[in-house]
Amino acid sequence: MNPFSSQQLATLAEKYGAPLWVYSAEVIRERISQLKAFDVIRYAQKANSNTHILRLMREQGVMVDAVSLGEIERAAKAGYQLASGEPSEVVFTADVLDRATLQRVVADNIVVNAGSIDMLHQLGELSPGHRVWLRVNPGFGHGHSNKTNTGGENSKHGIWHGDIQQALTVIRQYGLKLVGLHMHIGSGVDYSHLQQVCGAMVQLVASLGEDLEAISAGGGLSIPYRQGEPRIDIDHYFTLWDAARKQIEQQLGHAVRLEIEPGRFLVAESGVLLTEVRAAKNMGRQHFVLVDAYFNDLMRPSMYGSYHEISVLGHDAQEPLLPTVVAGPLCESGDVFTQQEGGVVETRLLPEAKVGDLLVLHDAGAYGATMSSNYNSRPLLAEVLVDGAQDRLIRRRQTIGELLSLEDVAA
Ligand code: LLP
Repeated sequence: MNPFSSQQLATLAEKYGAPLWVYSAEVIRERISQLKAFDVIRYAQKANSNTHILRLMREQGVMVDAVSLGEIERAAKAGYQLASGEPSEVVFTADVLDRATLQRVVADNIVVNAGSIDMLHQLGELSPGHRVWLRVNPGFGHGHSNKTNTGGENSKHGIWHGDIQQALTVIRQYGLKLVGLHMHIGSGVDYSHLQQVCGAMVQLVASLGEDLEAISAGGGLSIPYRQGEPRIDIDHYFTLWDAARKQIEQQLGHAVRLEIEPGRFLVAESGVLLTEVRAAKNMGRQHFVLVDAYFNDLMRPSMYGSYHEISVLGHDAQEPLLPTVVAGPLCESGDVFTQQEGGVVETRLLPEAKVGDLLVLHDAGAYGATMSSNYNSRPLLAEVLVDGAQDRLIRRRQTIGELLSLEDVAA
């Protein structure tokens, strides 16, 4: 999906320069409203942690998940209360507590979603009574790629479902306060696997005989990256979880809060990466278009073979189409935006793009800017948020001077 008109994007490229991330506030609000039936929408900010996006989330009543000290700081900067009551505005979710983060969650009394029993010991020793969730690995997982499957025996994530009693013993040992159980089995999960989690949650709660305030369905909701791909039926998904919650409520004899923790679903379709064609050439029969964005801007194609729809600004599909490989400038053969998992180069049928044309990589609002790096000493790109007729810079382009300044240390 591309929420912007060609004219709009051309104007933004002129105003802010390319390559450029552009996001639509309207699309984000629309996705939030689709999930409103859940008691708490807890945004997995790793998908897009720009503080202006977080502020937008907060204005819409969305709470937030943080997975690092940096993400805790981002949440705080966006106005989230770190040590709020239940439901807590911020939850720190991880499988590990590094020392600096441990200090911070203790100092600010931030609720921790523990993915290992060691985390419970480390937290319990410093902060008896601390509120915790348990992230459970239910023994199965799924994802759009093996790299995004976070359940099952080959996954390092969460506490193994068979070890939850042991985790509860540790919780009691330190007087920690159990808030809820959380299952996140992967990212870009197909619908049947997503539904499987409800059943696993009901069974687990029944087998534990432990009191809880809340359960979390995790994230993982996929979006249609390819034209014609079906959308997840959110109403049906909520109905299933609501039924699971009701069974749990019956067992516990009180109301139980139902949380959901999406990243991609809320922001992916809001964003595009705008990039300029800088060269076009043939290699034998293969036609290449080389752009000024690199794989270190948008990693997903090279990392997972992810598909992003591509369009050429100002050209329409009525023009003759040419099988085209779209690639970046890095001296790495993986720097190709049209490829399958495993690095197999693919072509797309595109109108012929010439030097100076702008290409739009669609659905790049999630895991785009947040996964960028400074490889090849390239500064991070600027980000722009469009809201109605207004556009504003929400991150300026990093400068090369800023990159180099980190190395200005006394010899
Ligand atoms: N909750 C937890 C604990 C997670 O680890 C994640 C994502 C989410 C929620 C949100 O998942 P989502 O709703 O966005 O699928 N870089 C990959 C995705 C990695 C996701 C990691 N965890 C990509 O570009 O597809």
